[in-house]
Amino acid sequence: MQEVTEAKKRMLSGIQPSGDLHLGNYLGAMKNWIGLADEFDCFYFLADMHTITVRQNPADLRRRTLEQMAQYIACGLDPEKNVLFVQSHVHQHAELGWVLNCYTMFGELSRMTQFKDKSAKNAENINGGLFTYPALMAADILLYQADLVPVGHDQKQHCELTRDIAQRFNGIYGNVFKVPDPYIPKTGARIMSLNNPDSKMSKSMPEGCVFLMEKPEDIQRKFKRAITDSDTENCVRYDPENKPGVSNLMSIYSSVTGRSFEQIEKEFSGCGYGTFKPAVGEAVIEVLRPIREEATRLLADKAYLESVCRSGAEKASYVAEKTLRKVYKKVGFLPR
Ligand code: TYM
Repeated sequence: MQEVTEAKKRMLSGIQPSGDLHLGNYLGAMKNWIGLADEFDCFYFLADMHTITVRQNPADLRRRTLEQMAQYIACGLDPEKNVLFVQSHVHQHAELGWVLNCYTMFGELSRMTQFKDKSAKNAENINGGLFTYPALMAADILLYQADLVPVGHDQKQHCELTRDIAQRFNGIYGNVFKVPDPYIPKTGARIMSLNNPDSKMSKSMPEGCVFLMEKPEDIQRKFKRAITDSDTENCVRYDPENKPGVSNLMSIYSSVTGRSFEQIEKEFSGCGYGTFKPAVGEAVIEVLRPIREEATRLLADKAYLESVCRSGAEKASYVAEKTLRKVYKKVGFLPR
């Protein structure tokens, strides 16, 4: 029997404030965080401790953290209904992260594709934190006894490792952790770069990446320049293998409008890419416009954003501490 029994199921997720939030973050993750607060207990955080696995400029990190909080709220996460917090404000993450490091195997960490990718990109700084990152991510999730973790496809492997760590720990000490499930959307879980549909959209390739705070004219320019496929048919058809560029644009359009691929094919039948690309751009601009405007408004009120961070950290700490106490007891630490 689970020791943890709560009336509502719990959702938890986080994003690193390592760069400006982009359409991949929004469609793969954040869009699925919104509007759930009545049904779930929702915890969303800014993963700043993960961010320093890659060298950061301290002033930029501080600024981006507050900006990202403004964007969380602007996307529709009401701080009165969702617990919004900064990871480094809740010391229990680091503490449980250390314990879980001791229950995570070298071989498991070596297999993580994000570690392999990031160490290839940062050959001069392959630090211990980059390697043990998934144990901290497991701590982020397990501290809150989360049921569901809404993330994009690239975090699936980390979520599976979290489950393995939880099951291993529970196997030794009894039911300490709830074993969480990843929650990955059907469309939008893997948004690809607009100018290179073989790579996922990421801030490291800004020309193919649409940022939430970007000006409409810049967004439209990127969509008009998006790479479509070099087949001769010039028709809007979902075929990720042979038409990765158009299929990616269709996924984006589907995700922002809620239309199915079939409906999109019908809507644009007889139209070429020259009509389709700006239509996708327009649909994205309309979804992002209110977010950008609201985030800009919120950013003018730093005191409010700081108060959201403070009260979120207090609520998060309360829940996290309960789990940490239990873990410390189970592993045999002497109470202070
Ligand atoms: P991060 O910060 O790289 O990305 C944040 C979220 O955005 C999703 N995402 C995408 N989805 C679709 N298409 C894309 N191109 C795309 N790019 C990013 C990611 O899947 C993710 O959901 N390790 C995590 C942060 C983290 C976390 C956690 C998440 C730390 N602790 C605990 C959940 C629970 C990360 O680096 O995500």
